[in-house]
Amino acid sequence: MNAFVLKILILGGTNFLGPHLVEELQKQGHEVTLFNRGTQDILFESKVETLQGNRDGNLDALKNRWWDAVIDTSGHLPRLVDESSKILVNATKHYTFISTIGVYANFHSQDIAENYPLAKLEDETNEEINEKTYGALKAACEKVIESYFPNNLVIRSGLIVGPRDPTRRFSYWPLRIAEGGEILGPGSPKQSLQFIDVRDLAKWIVSMVEKQKTGIYNATGPALPLSFEELLKTCSQVIPSNALVTWVNEDFLIQHDVQDWTELPLWLSYKRNMPGFLNVSRKKAIQEGLTFRSLADTISATIEWERQNRQEDIPIGIERKKEQELLAEWKKNNKS
Ligand SMILES: NC(=O)c1ccc[n+]([C@@H]2O[C@H](COP(=O)([O-])OP(=O)(O)OC[C@H]3O[C@@H](n4cnc5c(N)ncnc54)[C@H](OP(=O)(O)O)[C@@H]3O)[C@@H](O)[C@H]2O)c1
Repeated sequence: MNAFVLKILILGGTNFLGPHLVEELQKQGHEVTLFNRGTQDILFESKVETLQGNRDGNLDALKNRWWDAVIDTSGHLPRLVDESSKILVNATKHYTFISTIGVYANFHSQDIAENYPLAKLEDETNEEINEKTYGALKAACEKVIESYFPNNLVIRSGLIVGPRDPTRRFSYWPLRIAEGGEILGPGSPKQSLQFIDVRDLAKWIVSMVEKQKTGIYNATGPALPLSFEELLKTCSQVIPSNALVTWVNEDFLIQHDVQDWTELPLWLSYKRNMPGFLNVSRKKAIQEGLTFRSLADTISATIEWERQNRQEDIPIGIERKKEQELLAEWKKNNKS
């Protein structure tokens, strides 16, 4: 608990990172206000003020108020970030924008630092958010924030994982290991991985806000380089299972139309020419106190959350039948 209490506004707050920020802020004794449309109802430990509105066209609830700091988890379109900034520019002294490592122009090199060139929109009026535009739109939002708030903090997060993850990209692997049997390991067991546990990210962001830090930071983990093979081995150590991983060559997977990142999450095909995407530099954030819990902790908390909170068995990743057929064909063709 902190000696001083801050009034904090979170734009968003009810999806994934948002609730973890609320939890961390409340742990530190701060007063939290959320602004969102109210599509999700979350029960927080302590009282939270909720302002209902819409970033697109209904910002009235933000008018004539003051917060010590704003944390923006829901800025995706520069036009809307501009609209809310016009109101918040005189309503706070510190603004944190949650961005993404996806803002970089390319991932051709490894160890990308915060001064690497940024992606640009081909058409600046395009507001469609998709795999191609997401990063460039976030980069454009960062620019808007910089133009309004001299004390701005930009957190360029890597893949966020852990409890509440709606994408379940990381969750696929602990769940698949828990299911057991023969598992298709995609591509190279040596492929490196980067991601950050949402709880580590939230804790660090709150500490940065408390210190009124400014600047741009890549934020991803883990502490030491991690390979795909090590992730699956750690899952097997944490989760009781009879799982056995068979690694299948990436060319074979591509020939059989298996989609990287979605069907087999965290696998990034070499065809994308993005060796730096899971190898960005997080030196600056670590110097500012970013720390990482153990991988085993992230795996246990992820599977625990999935087991307690998933109401129905929503499948993720590759269909089991397709996975098993691919494994059978791979082994038939590669008998030693
Ligand atoms: N997931 C990842 O791996 C990853 C990686 C890098 C960076 N990031 C960034 O991290 C942030 C993730 O935060 P998150 O997952 O907690 O939130 P999010 O999905 O980006 O935003 C959802 C929150 O914003 C509110 N919201 C959405 N549209 C709104 C609107 N038009 N007006 C007002 N409120 C609105 C939602 O509540 P209502 O629906 O009730 O309005 C909810 O509280 C994002 O900025 C994302 O770009 C994510």
